[in-house]
Amino acid sequence: MKKSNQKQNEVDFLVIGSGLAGLMTALKLENAGKVLIVTKGRIQDGATGYAQGGVACVSHGDDSFGNHAEDTIKAGAGLCDEKIVDLVVSEGPARVQELISMGVQFNLRKKSGDVPETFDLGLEGGHSFRRILHVADRTGEAIHRILINRIRNSKNIKVLEGHFSVNLITKSDGPNGGNLGCLGAYILNIRTGQITAYTAKATILATGGAGMTYLFTSNPNVATGDGMAMAFRAGVALSNLEFVQFHPTCLYYPAAKSFLITEALRGEGAILKLKSGEKFMRRYHQNRELAPRDIVARAIDTELKKTGDDCVFLDIHHRDSEFLKKRFPGIYQKCLEYGIDITKHPIPVVPAAHYFCGGVKVDEWGRTNLERLFAVGEVACTGLHGANRLASNSLLECLVFAHRAAEMARRISKKLRSIKIPVWNVGSARNPDEQVVIKQNWGEVRRAMWNYVGIQRSDKILLRALRRLELLNQEIHEYYWDFKIDARLLQLRNISLVGELVVRSALARHESRGLHNNRNYPDRDDKKWRKASVIRKNPIPNRPPIVTFEKLD
Ligand code: FAD
Ligand code: SIN
Repeated sequence: MKKSNQKQNEVDFLVIGSGLAGLMTALKLENAGKVLIVTKGRIQDGATGYAQGGVACVSHGDDSFGNHAEDTIKAGAGLCDEKIVDLVVSEGPARVQELISMGVQFNLRKKSGDVPETFDLGLEGGHSFRRILHVADRTGEAIHRILINRIRNSKNIKVLEGHFSVNLITKSDGPNGGNLGCLGAYILNIRTGQITAYTAKATILATGGAGMTYLFTSNPNVATGDGMAMAFRAGVALSNLEFVQFHPTCLYYPAAKSFLITEALRGEGAILKLKSGEKFMRRYHQNRELAPRDIVARAIDTELKKTGDDCVFLDIHHRDSEFLKKRFPGIYQKCLEYGIDITKHPIPVVPAAHYFCGGVKVDEWGRTNLERLFAVGEVACTGLHGANRLASNSLLECLVFAHRAAEMARRISKKLRSIKIPVWNVGSARNPDEQVVIKQNWGEVRRAMWNYVGIQRSDKILLRALRRLELLNQEIHEYYWDFKIDARLLQLRNISLVGELVVRSALARHESRGLHNNRNYPDRDDKKWRKASVIRKNPIPNRPPIVTFEKLD
């Protein structure tokens, strides 16, 4: 390990990541001790600020927890942990109420006659009821802004922007002693290049997803799977990594970075069409455009392969233009920037990697298998999403698990004995070719994932991906130990590792279910495979990770 004796800092709670999961967990811990949030970009960076559709939550008298749970389980293709589903849908309303108390103003429906004012509820694929609370089509930004303000005004919470968490600190207690669990993390100050060890009574991974492992993604640049990679390296179990969700409708415009066109647009009547004008979703599912997301994405992928077209089209021009501008101001504006007036013309769209249903395996309190380490938000796999996440269930999961993890972190936060942590040796070697090598490998990983580990898979192409990624990981490993580390190298190392873990998990599941579709095993097999995959580091050095399958309760 690259270590020497340098600075060491102590806090009570170390939160890594400043999206909804991280900020909410930090706020819930602010009265329990000194909280430090480290985040590798600016505080507002992350998927949270991009969320458009909203928060799925039962709020209408005609809806029920049972309905929401049933929709979640149906979308999850038999792989949801039903205990977790019940817990999330039933605790959701209280957590959403907290957001409202903090000042989040979800859109309301106007009073009409004797009908009282209620939430304006959106509809998305897989939901049998209108239950998505939203702030126009900028829900994530509205929520994030309020939380950031609260954090900035908190006396007990400190935020370090531009600080990259490199690795978790783990240590055993002397030659015969037990494992002390997670003691904190090594944090790189991106500007100065210095690495500091931060120790904490509890460490909370809230680093978000890993969409950047794919060439085309709806995710922001920070979504490089760092938390999953750090956890894996520390010996923590990850689960269900083969289930990568592709959002069916991202704007297809070569000059634009994949911009999401919310599923709520389909909830308001948008229709998917081919270039020829043919509506094709009726051939794939009775709920057509509002089928679960895996089915819609697969249908588009199949049509694109059949026709050889570059994109399909999402058409909502038949709705009133004033309604569209008010309900979807973000999408209206963004499309207009590219010369597409959604009130008049169909929107060119393609699927893109969107959400990791798998992640660091946690229990109902957000605890990992490493003591003192929690994972919350997209980085975690709670069991809620199973093999395919129901739309808008992610923000809800962040809220419920931030509350639960904070509660448990507070309970277990016994004082840590003062432990001397070996501190990182930054190293100084530089290779004139390094930026070129990083750029080349960065593209190679993401292209391999996109071409070989996408919506439709086969053993042959998964094996091809595995060979490529193994080689790249070996090369990156050598590079990593020889040269000075920086954020770009660290991110490359993480997407490449997470990519390999996704491929290994996918190769181990011999069936097709939800988001994992392998043409060598085209059917879902509940008898053999209604199990969660779990991937762990091999305890024998230089041996491949171990994949096992665990029965659901
Ligand atoms: P993020 O918000 O992604 O935050 C992760 C944080 O960790 C960032 O601050 C990042 O900089 C930081 N970080 C990462 N690695 C490191 C490191 N090594 N060191 C330090 N900091 C690090 N879900 C819904 O429920 N409803 C929606 O409408 C919805 N719409 C979406 C639209 C888009 C375009 C996208 C991309 C996602 C959408 N999702 C939606 C999913 C949802 O937004 C995310 O799953 C959720 O916001 C994740 O929150 P998070 O806090 O776990 O992660
Ligand atoms: C969307 O608005 O379509 C995204 C919702 C989600 O990912 O949950």
